Amino acid sequence: MKILGIETSCDETSAGIVEDGNKLLANIVRTQIDIHKEYGGVVPEIAARNHIEVILPVVNQSLRTAKLNWKEIDGIAVTNGPGLMGSLLIGTLTARMLALIHRKPIYPVHHVLGHIYANWLLDDKPEFPLIALIVSGNHTHLFYLESHLKVKLLGRTTDDAVGEAYDKVSKLIGFGYPGGPFIDKAFHRGDLNFLDLPTPKVPGKYDFSFSGLKTAVLRRSQELIGEDFRFPSWQIAERLTEEQRDSIAASFQKKAVEILVKTTKKAYDEFNPKSVIIGGGVAANQYLREELQKALPIKLNYAPIDLCTDNGAMIAALGCFMAEYSQPTDPRDIKTNPSLKIDYQK
Ligand code: KG4
Ligand code: ZN
Repeated sequence: MKILGIETSCDETSAGIVEDGNKLLANIVRTQIDIHKEYGGVVPEIAARNHIEVILPVVNQSLRTAKLNWKEIDGIAVTNGPGLMGSLLIGTLTARMLALIHRKPIYPVHHVLGHIYANWLLDDKPEFPLIALIVSGNHTHLFYLESHLKVKLLGRTTDDAVGEAYDKVSKLIGFGYPGGPFIDKAFHRGDLNFLDLPTPKVPGKYDFSFSGLKTAVLRRSQELIGEDFRFPSWQIAERLTEEQRDSIAASFQKKAVEILVKTTKKAYDEFNPKSVIIGGGVAANQYLREELQKALPIKLNYAPIDLCTDNGAMIAALGCFMAEYSQPTDPRDIKTNPSLKIDYQK
């Protein structure tokens, strides 16, 4: 069973091909980071326009890379949410058109669950039941999976996603976009205990919150550069020394990772899963991987960086299991939903 997966929910245009849910045949990713970085974040309309320009060449390149023609593809999986409406529409309309032209079944995929399935593309496969922590620029979700597609959402962020907090702190201290890799580098130069940052309160046992942490970083930075005058956030970076900026980044990362690790460990202790997975762009963070591994008595599963950030292969991998365990959707009935909820429970 070979599935082509299409992903356009944010600022990556990607197509991947996966066989039987676990054999990676192609993963083509065109990122728009260079276009959006001058704005310090993704500009939705620009993202959608760029997806249109490259989506068909990216799909064709994935077929060439896998050395397959359309007859050998058994189905199409496409991210239909959550994400940016304009971006999602380019992917779902393209998938719908291709499914109709080539007469293929189509499977709408929830983007955040797609991140979990990147882990099936590695030699070391996760085992059920499992706990999955998905951390990206838009999502911070903790899941319990009893089996394929049998998913329970344990908790999620009540405000900002952790990657969003990384991006905003990075902007505040004058680093680049996306913030994660810049903060991660500065972490090794800075003093982790420079700022004493608060642990946010959350409503549910497995919920997260990062908005208060981001605001605390802003307030402490303002205090550092002058008690008597509250500088607006865009004037702060230039008034900080290089050492201060590195140490703010380091303190922020220490606290953000501490929050993620504590909550995931709590879920591990309660559910006693066979595997723990991390996925999403922030899972590329080495310190998060190390700290979570230290907290767990079992081996942590995570994908290499190019499969952690948004990609079509993870969508194709989940699509393979959907083809096995569920019915395809009529291409004309594919719904695009920027705030799609998870409804995979069998
Ligand atoms: O999964 P992803 O590519 O896109 C979304 O679905 O959002 O995640 C992008 C996020 C950005 O916020 C970026 O700052 C973060 O992942 N990120 C990292 C690292 N690399 C990317 N965060 C922390 N450490 C990293 N090394
Ligand atoms: Zn993502």
